[in-house]
Amino acid sequence: MNATIETMLNRRTIRAFTDEPIPQEIVDTLLKVANLSANSNGMSQYSIIEITDSQLKERLADICLQPYVAKAAKLYIFVIDVHRNAKILEEAGLSDENIRNMNSFVQGTSDGTLAAQSMVIAAQSLGLGAVFLGSILNNVDAVVELLDLPDLTFPIFGVGLGYPDQSPQLKPKMPLHMLLHENGYQEPINYHEALEEYDREMETYYDLREGGKRMDSFTLQVERKLISVTPNRSRIGNSIEKMGFRLKRED
Ligand SMILES: Cc1cc2nc3c(=O)[nH]c(=O)nc-3n(C[C@H](O)[C@H](O)[C@H](O)COP(=O)(O)O)c2cc1C
Repeated sequence: MNATIETMLNRRTIRAFTDEPIPQEIVDTLLKVANLSANSNGMSQYSIIEITDSQLKERLADICLQPYVAKAAKLYIFVIDVHRNAKILEEAGLSDENIRNMNSFVQGTSDGTLAAQSMVIAAQSLGLGAVFLGSILNNVDAVVELLDLPDLTFPIFGVGLGYPDQSPQLKPKMPLHMLLHENGYQEPINYHEALEEYDREMETYYDLREGGKRMDSFTLQVERKLISVTPNRSRIGNSIEKMGFRLKRED
């Protein structure tokens, strides 16, 4: 085991931060690490928006419905960014028709996600804590407006960083035998039975997010969380199209 793997095996989401600021030198390193991540086709189809305005931070925390968003020493919004390359094409008198599609959208999502994960792991290795914030999607149109995001961009999640003010348990994870398939997809005869041990393990996890409440089993979480849809989230396709991406081929 080396220090990198130890850091990764200890990763957990931190949702409470002290007031201690993060030294600029560390911030610069984290951004450099993010920038050095792999990206699809070398096209860098993502951007990072740093939120330094405290009112903007509060507005985003309201959208996320998570007060700890405003408490993070650093807050970054990761954005799919196909706009930059569209402008390069435009300046060269070329069409951007072929990049307004879901291929670019998926590539931008993986580019931004890899950069963010690199940043989070590096942050954790330096004693910081991090939280991903998919909750910006509670009202993605409002985030677009607040951040003045142009055509062919799309905010995917935020990342809050700061010095931890809590020490949560490691959250039990899906057993590897359920995630790892050999040469194709292997379906268990019954998912509830296959997940029984994991269900029991999840019930030993105390969720600080829920005020330290004991967690439901995994299958019960699926049954409770995934039967209803948050209204704005089910309309995300409309927001994606509004930003100039085509969800489907038109020919
Ligand atoms: C894309 C993404 C979005 C997430 N959004 C939120 C969020 O909005 N708020 C939050 O508190 N945690 C968020 N999380 C953290 C997950 O809830 C967390 O990773 C998961 O429950 C596993 O716990 P762990 O990170 O402590 O292992 C998000 C994680 C990911 C990967």
